[in-house]
Amino acid sequence: MENIRSGKPPLPTRLLHGGDYNPDQWLDCPEVLEEDIVLMKKAHVNCVSLGIFAWSRLEPEEGRFDFDWLEKIMDNLYENGIYTILATPTGAMPHWLTDTYEEVNKVNKEGKRRIHGQRHNFCPSSPVMRERTRAIDTALSRRFGHHPGLLAWHLSNEYGGDGDWTDCHCPHCQANFRKWLQNRYGTLDNLNHAWWSGFWSNVVTSWEQIHSPVTYGEMTLHGLKLDWKRFVSEQMLDFCKAEADAVRTYSDAPVTINMMGPFDPLNYFQWAKELDIVSEDSYPFWHSQEDPLDPAVMAAFRYSLIRSLKKQPFLLMESVTSAVNWHPRCTLKRPGVHELSSLQAVAHGSNSVQYFQWRKSRGGSEKFHGAVVDHRNGENTRVFREVAHLGQRLEGLSDKVMKTCNRPRAAIVFDWENRWAAEDAQAIVNPLNFLEKWMPWFRPFWEQGVDVDIVDMDCGLEGYSLVVAPLNYMYRGDYAQRVRAFVEGGGTYVTSYWSGEVDEHDLCFLGHHPLSDVLGIRTEDIDVRPVNMENEVIWGKKRYPVMDLCAIVHPEGAQVLAEYARDFYAGFPALTRHSFGRGTAYFAAAECGGEFLGDLVKLVTEESGNTCALCSALPRGVTVTERKGGEGSLFFLQNFNPEPAAVILGKACLDAETGDTVTGAITLTPYECRILENGKEGESAREK
Ligand code: GAL
Repeated sequence: MENIRSGKPPLPTRLLHGGDYNPDQWLDCPEVLEEDIVLMKKAHVNCVSLGIFAWSRLEPEEGRFDFDWLEKIMDNLYENGIYTILATPTGAMPHWLTDTYEEVNKVNKEGKRRIHGQRHNFCPSSPVMRERTRAIDTALSRRFGHHPGLLAWHLSNEYGGDGDWTDCHCPHCQANFRKWLQNRYGTLDNLNHAWWSGFWSNVVTSWEQIHSPVTYGEMTLHGLKLDWKRFVSEQMLDFCKAEADAVRTYSDAPVTINMMGPFDPLNYFQWAKELDIVSEDSYPFWHSQEDPLDPAVMAAFRYSLIRSLKKQPFLLMESVTSAVNWHPRCTLKRPGVHELSSLQAVAHGSNSVQYFQWRKSRGGSEKFHGAVVDHRNGENTRVFREVAHLGQRLEGLSDKVMKTCNRPRAAIVFDWENRWAAEDAQAIVNPLNFLEKWMPWFRPFWEQGVDVDIVDMDCGLEGYSLVVAPLNYMYRGDYAQRVRAFVEGGGTYVTSYWSGEVDEHDLCFLGHHPLSDVLGIRTEDIDVRPVNMENEVIWGKKRYPVMDLCAIVHPEGAQVLAEYARDFYAGFPALTRHSFGRGTAYFAAAECGGEFLGDLVKLVTEESGNTCALCSALPRGVTVTERKGGEGSLFFLQNFNPEPAAVILGKACLDAETGDTVTGAITLTPYECRILENGKEGESAREK
């Protein structure tokens, strides 16, 4: 095993296949535990996550640890070639903890303290919780830190849990919030200015007056709410760091957490810096959305986001083999979808396919959640066969895939603080669902087979030739200067309506849009299209319907590419282009649908040299994702349609699994993922 902190590459060295394993629920059924090992081997499982919710078994009463059963399980797994990602058990607290120490239970925004129950509900500020966590995590580290089967530490589970419960409003959290604010602002004058607290008589004259936003108190002061969100994310991260420190006491194994894509309460860009590897849990709504491609696009975005956090491969820590029991409709994955959806994660940078869960539990709220092993029929199920087939495929692909990672030269800005502020703006549309407005900008990249990184406003822009920043409402820190330098240096920058409105304190910019010189426009106003009034954008010979948002801007040096067709701003720019330095900046004033964004993305990817490296055009529902390596690229050609799809390859490749030469027109079967390579061997295929 490699240790990332000593500068060596992080785990894994092979593609992982496995999932959450809960033998603690079956300790009195040895025949089940024996069968698990037999079936894991048949399913080509090489790794499991252990002990995630096992606190009450690991520490049955305060200070009495019982790890023998876990050691036996880990030993047995290891002897059978199966590695362990070992969890700290803080995802669910035992009764002795919640019942003895009230302070470990969160207080919600109505001021009510929780009692024992459910999970992901500890207070991250509670000294008792910190102390008991340190005790068990250190004990686990001492006992298992050098176990040969230990692959990594899985801290807690999905920190933050259900987004509505993430924040805790108890006295410990209030005190920490005040300290956090003192640290950030130094003086009350600074804080009052940042919060614009003269508004509605909110001027703060003592730190003690400050209280978190609660339903029975202040819920409207944007600066307070934004800082509270920052604090909530950082406070939970502080707890996570304490867990990381504890497991590192006796262990060099890498540390990870299972993230939840764009989970609103936690700013994962900050979190990723503290982790050795990042991991993702993914439960797309296959077969249950009106547009069957929506889940595929959303999954692609989430994987791209998670990979981009560290710009290195991640682990798909949880996914499902078939039905998800908390979806409104628990539809089974159609045959083939499991393999395709798993390889989709690998295509976007995952070095694993792991499931929640290995075996369905017999009782409890997840007894009907999809698993590799069902309550009945052992290996004789469609799901088991599909999992085993995928496991075999991953084994075959491992060497090649492990040498690669996605290295796009195009990036889209997705910034947590920007989203928090934009959703709280009380403007344009209420409530604003930021992701709903943002996702249409990602989709055309997916449709055109152009891989993108996702960056926030702190990320470096070096190495990209195209940066797209939709709904870039807030400009933090030196973001505007860095964008200016990026465009001056030859980059292509695209931004949109509802951008450059506020600074990092959520205070409106006075004077002009911070990038008006780069964009070559003056921004004036923003309209939301009246419900009963259609509008269109005219771009060359084409007309596109306008959705909701219509920024009203004036060209000041920019070329007008498209204009509004109607209303009092008919003839005003809907899309502008401005040369600045050696680069180009676009401003989309009108919010249009997929066709417009598709044409815009085609234009700017061509201009910046970011088009799909495999095919010049792709049919609907088919995409390509490229993982690059020193010896060439792997192209994951994915057909998300339930019917065959014809694709024309722009270059000769080899099939990475069979070695066959593949060239020209090919047909993908329903839900097929074909993996092609174009390295030295691919080149020679072209010469033949
Ligand atoms: C995840 C969670 C797992 C399991 C799964 C079910 O959010 O981490 O423990 O509950 O959902 O889909």
